[in-house]
Amino acid sequence: MAHEIHLDPWADLYATRMSNMKGSAIRAMMGSAEIPGMIALAGGLPNTKPIGLDDVVRATRETMKAEGGTALQYGSSEGHKGLKRHIIKLMAEEGVTVDYDDFILTQGSQQALDLVARTFIDVGNRIIVEAPSYVGALQATSGYQPDYLQIRMDDDGMVVDELAVALKKLGPRSAKFIYVVPNFHNPAGVTLPLERRKRLIELAREYELLIFEDNPYGRLRYEGEDIPSLRSMDENVMYTSTFSKIFSPGMRIGWIIAPHPILDKIVIGKQASDLCSSNFAQMVLEHYFDRNLWQKNIEQLRDVYRSRRDAMIAALEEFFPEGTSWTKPAGGFFLWATLPEYLDSSEMLAEAIENKVSYVPGNAFYADGSGAHHMRLAFCYEDEEKITEAIKRLGKVIKGQMALAKSLLIKE
Ligand SMILES: Cc1ncc(COP(=O)(O)O)c(C=O)c1O
Repeated sequence: MAHEIHLDPWADLYATRMSNMKGSAIRAMMGSAEIPGMIALAGGLPNTKPIGLDDVVRATRETMKAEGGTALQYGSSEGHKGLKRHIIKLMAEEGVTVDYDDFILTQGSQQALDLVARTFIDVGNRIIVEAPSYVGALQATSGYQPDYLQIRMDDDGMVVDELAVALKKLGPRSAKFIYVVPNFHNPAGVTLPLERRKRLIELAREYELLIFEDNPYGRLRYEGEDIPSLRSMDENVMYTSTFSKIFSPGMRIGWIIAPHPILDKIVIGKQASDLCSSNFAQMVLEHYFDRNLWQKNIEQLRDVYRSRRDAMIAALEEFFPEGTSWTKPAGGFFLWATLPEYLDSSEMLAEAIENKVSYVPGNAFYADGSGAHHMRLAFCYEDEEKITEAIKRLGKVIKGQMALAKSLLIKE
């Protein structure tokens, strides 16, 4: 049957902002996970296995008993106090003292990213991001059409000295905010050391800039000591985190801490967006967290993820060719591999998918679309055996591409 080509009859109606918004490469890749035999190193799907389903049923029953119809009603835009109580405790463990009105609950951290973007960015405003940066943050901000200033990353996260050089030229208040993921970066897998954190805070103060700290993975550390958050060093830092990685992304609950005048604006944005987050989900989470079960879950998660990370690094050492390198994450979900500059991982993807292995090409994580000789490899989802097999297959694909590129060079 011949395929008809359907042109979008509404193409001339869309806002210009839609032309800047790319569908997330990762969501697109999720589809490939359904192909039989595919080993998915693309999406960062958390492992929800340690969660006792009976415990969730119990928390749900307790919610209905204790809250009754309230759980089925609209809630406050700022979030349910019962759950906020747990977040206050979580933040205190990270050295951050907050009260109920210092933060609001959101639909995951992703909504916090969108709300901060809509609160601050007018067309053409500068925002400062890491290069590479979390693709969901690029997606959330791109609709507001900012001008991105990318700051390079190395094995210790954002190269803050390069930010200092840029700011010296640009001067004070030259960007709306600096977005950073200091712990176990997505996609780079690296962590910003204390000295760089202090320097970043100093720079933000000197140049009167806001920092927006995104910390979904901080509790998934597999070795070493925790490093103080940026928010614990300065109360002007905006901070978001989420229940997605320490419990379940299905709940869609995160939070954002910000100075009060900013938070007031963010709440208005949230009301416009969804009125409030799900009262029901917040209350079930509250009852689940009342029993402290999550701490045991997270210990199990750390063991599982650590072992998968180790399997991936061992396989990379065995199967990836000379001329490639990768980061060694101390936590989180992702490892960042670097190929020779002449290779393009987005062009290579089709061959990888044919060989039943998926990853996310590096250029998805750069505001300017560069970075194609990198790839993000997620070690959170597949087990050790599958990870080893996937890296073996990928190593073969890369070796083939390197050989092809060399033979073409010789011919020229
Ligand atoms: C760095 C970062 N920020 C934010 C999010 C969004 O998480 P959620 O909306 O599930 O809380 C993610 C999810 O992968 C992430 O990696």
